[in-house]
Amino acid sequence: MPLLDNFSDITTRDEPLAPLTWLKIGGPAQFFVRPRSFDELSLVLRRCHDEQVPVHLLGGGSNLLVRDVGVSGAVIQLAAPEFCKIEINGTHVRAGAGASLSHVISHTVKAGLAGLDVLVGIPGTLGGALRGNAGGRSGDIGQHVRSVRTIGTDGTVTVRKEDELTFAYRESSLVNVTILEAEFELHAEDPEEITRRMRTLWIAKKATQPLTFQSAGCIFKNPRGMSAGLLIDRAGLKGVRIGNVEISDRHANFIVSHPGASSEDVMRLIDMARSKVAEQFGVDLEVEIEIW
Ligand code: EPU
Repeated sequence: MPLLDNFSDITTRDEPLAPLTWLKIGGPAQFFVRPRSFDELSLVLRRCHDEQVPVHLLGGGSNLLVRDVGVSGAVIQLAAPEFCKIEINGTHVRAGAGASLSHVISHTVKAGLAGLDVLVGIPGTLGGALRGNAGGRSGDIGQHVRSVRTIGTDGTVTVRKEDELTFAYRESSLVNVTILEAEFELHAEDPEEITRRMRTLWIAKKATQPLTFQSAGCIFKNPRGMSAGLLIDRAGLKGVRIGNVEISDRHANFIVSHPGASSEDVMRLIDMARSKVAEQFGVDLEVEIEIW
């Protein structure tokens, strides 16, 4: 295969994706590519574009369900140091898309910068967080972004300023592009005060969400003015199990996978929750996780 011939140092074939996802299920990637540099990424993207190979960007795998058949085309992961840099200059922060969100948060908090601390406990990479505008009740990542550098499928690099970006509830305008890095403007605050606030948020999260199990965060978006978890709970589905996958008995918008689980089990559980909630409350739940 030409893709393998040219990038054999950084490409593997039929790479299992399950270990790279939080749910720990799903099939392999036809090609799994880990570029070591920006130039290499650019070449890979252009080659995929020219050969019409579909491209998927893998972040931290925390908001992702990979189907059992796996993913055809190329799955690219920006794990090399070049994509994971974090630089702080005064209240200005620049971080690579491959950096883990928790690293970005801890670096900024140590530097006495507040803003991203409200994202405590959200797993995944910065790129994934930006793409899906990760957040919670205390705010989301989009509100602190000043610019985002992306690369298109043809290798064109673009810098989008905040007024050229849109962030909404669990979505952004950063689609069909590869996010390279982002810049944030935060504000100075006492690190101890920020840490105290984070601890309180973290405790509240741990009390209501099954964070210690294999899950992919919230499965459904909250319908406007409602809670998906509450609706699934009221539909009596907490703890319901299909195969080796169950609806969390702690928070009904989480699906937890056990050893031997399959993506098909998850899909069936998603369908069941959607149809029961539609039947009982007339509400159509929209899936929040990415399904490949
Ligand atoms: N509730 C139930 N039963 C449940 C779950 C929730 O009755 O099984 C009730 C709660 O008691 C509460 C209401 O539903 O009255 C809302 O629940 P919660 O406060 O847990 O928040 P949520 O709306 O379900 C959202 C985000 C989470 C985020 C939390 C905290 C979505 C879909 N969910 O959850 O984000 O962590 O607020 O900020 O936006 C994620 O996106 O992956 C995610 C986990």
